[in-house]
Amino acid sequence: MPRRTLTLALAGLAASVHAKVYLSEDFSGDWEKRWVVSDWKKEEGQAGSWGVTAGDFYGDAEADKGLKTMDDARFYAISTAIDEFSNADKPLVVQFSVKHEQNIDCGGAYIKLFPKGVDQSKLHGGEGEDVYNVMFGPDICGYTKRTHFILRHAEKNNLISKEMTCKSDQLTHVYTLHLFPNRTFEVLIDGESERRGNLVDEFNLLPAKEIKDPAVSKPADWVDEKMIDDPDDHKPDGYDDIPKEIVDPEATKPDDWDDEDDGEWEAPVVPNPEYKGVWRAKRIANPAYKGEWEHPMIPNPEFSDDESIGKYASFGVAAFELWQVKAGTIFDNVLICDDPAEAEAKRKATWEANKDKEKEMFDKAEEAKRAKELEEAKEAGSDADSAEDEEDDEAAEGADELKDEV
Ligand SMILES: *[C@@H]1O[C@H](CO)[C@@H](O)[C@H](O)[C@H]1NC(C)=O
Repeated sequence: MPRRTLTLALAGLAASVHAKVYLSEDFSGDWEKRWVVSDWKKEEGQAGSWGVTAGDFYGDAEADKGLKTMDDARFYAISTAIDEFSNADKPLVVQFSVKHEQNIDCGGAYIKLFPKGVDQSKLHGGEGEDVYNVMFGPDICGYTKRTHFILRHAEKNNLISKEMTCKSDQLTHVYTLHLFPNRTFEVLIDGESERRGNLVDEFNLLPAKEIKDPAVSKPADWVDEKMIDDPDDHKPDGYDDIPKEIVDPEATKPDDWDDEDDGEWEAPVVPNPEYKGVWRAKRIANPAYKGEWEHPMIPNPEFSDDESIGKYASFGVAAFELWQVKAGTIFDNVLICDDPAEAEAKRKATWEANKDKEKEMFDKAEEAKRAKELEEAKEAGSDADSAEDEEDDEAAEGADELKDEV
């Protein structure tokens, strides 16, 4: 065993001594016995199927086998039962890897954690259906690329208020959520902190702690006008007598003008160069200005803290329940435990150990693809002249159509 691997293995061992692991799934062996595919959307023929594969590029052909969405434009729902636990007084750590090998344009890739007791054979986490506690992971559709973090609270699914980004390339990335009993959390992507904070501030689940004192209002004589008209600036005498337009002094009655035939000649009107617009007094700083009035704040009598935010009595089922337009996402190394160190050790032993090789294989595949495209372009090159002629014909036709329209 190389020294590095040995150290990592030991680190993993050291972490696992203290950690309680509720789920550790690498989709090896008889994974199908551990996971239940839901009937959701099956009758309508809209349920996607799942496979297990390392995909087209990977770091390790065996270890990188993961759960893959197989069919485009389908609904997906698969789940596994886990030993029931509560996170009321210990950390909840959720981690899994996502490889959008298909170069995804639109599709979810998040995990949902349900309480024990949901019917896995019919599992569906939509509105009015099975209710999950926590949803976490990437979701991409067009320009929207976000890492969801949703908490069930007060009978609602609550999104984190400020969006988090996610990875959208074709390589494997690891998403980690730490949720602590002191209501703080951290989200990591590939082991790097993406967001940390506390649930109360980031989810807007409580009424405001402070409100504007309703007993106080802005004094009637408060001056918050910063600038005023200069009282010493006066409108010059006769200012308003200057007309906006004048009769053109240069104009002369044409020689061939016939008053009888053409009517009485009138000189045209032109803008008056003397005219200066509507008079306005000069603006000066207001000497009576007191600054912006600040409404004094008081503790909100409606505020009541809620220690239960982010704490759930029961977790019992972990699920991927998704809609994907372009399928081909591979999930792997799903870990649910109570110790961030355990997740870190796992991440190092899996993703970190294999990511460089995966990238190498991906780059090679891309290179081969480009070479093939170039080759095909060259082959097509012999037909290029006729193709160009065709294009010219089309352009000419287009021009004709345009002419017709004009
Ligand atoms: C909350 O708990 C976590 C984990 O024990 C700790 O790292 C963090 O410092 C705590 N935060 C606060 C604000 O107490």
